Amino acid sequence: MKAQTILAIETSCDETSAAVLSKGRILSNLVASQIQLHSKYGGVVPEVAAREHVNAIIPVIDLSLKQAKKRLSNITHVAVTQGPGLVTSLLVGIDTAKTLALALNKPLIPINHLEAHIYANFTEEKRPKFPALILIVSGGHTMIVLMRGHGDYRLLGETVDDAAGEAFDKTAKLLGLGYPGGPKISKRAEMGDPQSFKLPRPMLAQKNLNFSFSGLKTAVLYEFTKQKTKNKKLVADLSASVQEAIVDTLIGKMERALEKHKVKSVMLGGGVAANKLLRERFGNLAKKRKLSCFIPKLEHCTDNAGMIGLAAHYGLKHKIAIIQEGIQAVPGMELR
Ligand code: KG4
Ligand code: ZN
Repeated sequence: MKAQTILAIETSCDETSAAVLSKGRILSNLVASQIQLHSKYGGVVPEVAAREHVNAIIPVIDLSLKQAKKRLSNITHVAVTQGPGLVTSLLVGIDTAKTLALALNKPLIPINHLEAHIYANFTEEKRPKFPALILIVSGGHTMIVLMRGHGDYRLLGETVDDAAGEAFDKTAKLLGLGYPGGPKISKRAEMGDPQSFKLPRPMLAQKNLNFSFSGLKTAVLYEFTKQKTKNKKLVADLSASVQEAIVDTLIGKMERALEKHKVKSVMLGGGVAANKLLRERFGNLAKKRKLSCFIPKLEHCTDNAGMIGLAAHYGLKHKIAIIQEGIQAVPGMELR
């Protein structure tokens, strides 16, 4: 394979990110986060996100090229998130990538954001072996996927309502902790007792591999409103209890999946993969089953263009990358 230098762009939600990769190595991976802007609204406001992407995209690309010590003329491929995501956010990245590819006369590779969360695990010398089971946990998705080879995915189960990240975000909002909820809840949880509140483990008793997290926020709301004194201890205890319930459910379903499917490795992916408790429990589960375990570095868990570039690199290497000129945003894109 000829040496390639990929410029990757990610703008699916509220992070504007650009990365440069050479021969599958991430040389730079810059993320301009809009968290501060959206936190006052308690969630992502699509119009605000799109406007910010427009402001940030060129400086972020410029900086990522500088950091990687590359020029636009060194770029051999442009990769961009096609979906899933917010359409107005996706369009900023796609239009920028299209224009660059056209101006440089280089191929444009559309990338599935969910696939990229999986490829965040393909950074080191030791690569996951197939078949592999993957738990993808983000703000919009919760799924267990069987991967039998590059580009070969089978969806085994997913959430029927809220995603795990959404459960963190919504509980954080009702506890008055702000956005995004995951990091806030896990910080408060450090001071709390995970056994203090008996919260449900939705659908865990069922044999299928689906999840349901929407009832959890209602259970937390019920416990929260019932208490007369609302102090730091209560918030810490509820945070610890909700985190425990989410992680228990995720690990429990992963255990079920491992009973049904013989695999060589397990992988974690998505923003919620940054959660310390989940990382620990996931690692322990793999150890117990004697499976090789892959958990992305923290900076590769939440949205970043480095993972988009990795998905493009492996797509090219295994000749499954689709090269397209006139790509469209696909907000509801599925993993196939
Ligand atoms: O993958 P991601 O950056 O964006 C999507 O593709 O959705 O995931 C964002 C989600 C948010 O719901 C956020 O609360 C959650 O990841 N998250 C965490 C942690 N860091 C981010 N959840 C739990 N613990 C964390 N430390
Ligand atoms: Zn994501």
